[in-house]
Amino acid sequence: MTKGDLIFDGNEKQIFATDQPDRVIFRYKDVAVAYNNVKRARFKGKGALNNQISAMLLDYLNRNGVETHFIELLGENEQLCRKIEIIPLQVVVHNRIAGSLATRLGVEEGFRHPNTIVDMRYNDDDLEDPFINRDHAVAIGLATYEELDRMYDTARRVNDLLKPLFHQAGIELVDMKLEFGRATDTGAIIISDEISPDTCRLWDEATEERMDKDRFRLDLSRVVESYTNVRDRLKKVFES
Ligand code: TYD
Repeated sequence: MTKGDLIFDGNEKQIFATDQPDRVIFRYKDVAVAYNNVKRARFKGKGALNNQISAMLLDYLNRNGVETHFIELLGENEQLCRKIEIIPLQVVVHNRIAGSLATRLGVEEGFRHPNTIVDMRYNDDDLEDPFINRDHAVAIGLATYEELDRMYDTARRVNDLLKPLFHQAGIELVDMKLEFGRATDTGAIIISDEISPDTCRLWDEATEERMDKDRFRLDLSRVVESYTNVRDRLKKVFES
């Protein structure tokens, strides 16, 4: 596998072409951005941690019948992935209400509810990732109803797999953001992008301490220490 041209240079990640048309290399940077790129900082080691955490979680999904873009780890900051055609939607799953959803619904941070909430956002920085529904997504040609059904079903299945996995690590999966794409090799709708403390809210079950990007968003310090803790606890679960 030979690394080719840089095809995407994001704030927190880069994507490189390879000598195979349906394979790309994801490189995770030591950068964090929040609030639609308004807040930004460098955290040495964060890229490697997100690379490892995302690899463990995506590999676990692959092994449990949920197709993702992840193929294999290549190095500290890099992983080999299947190439996808981007679907610019974010499917957000909430097990407990936190962040902007608490403000939107007028309930306290950490509000417990009996059901699973699934939100959808249009991934567009200029529009600030607005909430949209299935009809909006079909209307502007982002996906078909059948594809959206598949994305919603898969998001719930991912949640059903990852919630108990994090629980084994003593971590509560409060919410998470998932992205999907159409694999260029088979055309299947698969999970793309990362699943990491950058894209999930993860609370320590014992103390409710935040172990995710909220530490950066809310200036709570110990960002890298918390991500390391998530990585180490997940590693222990997989090793046992
Ligand atoms: P959401 O409730 O949509 O927004 P907010 O972060 O404002 O509360 O987010 C829920 C989860 O999704 C949270 O863990 C952060 C993650 N997320 C992203 O990773 N990227 C995004 O662009 C958005 C909007 C959310």
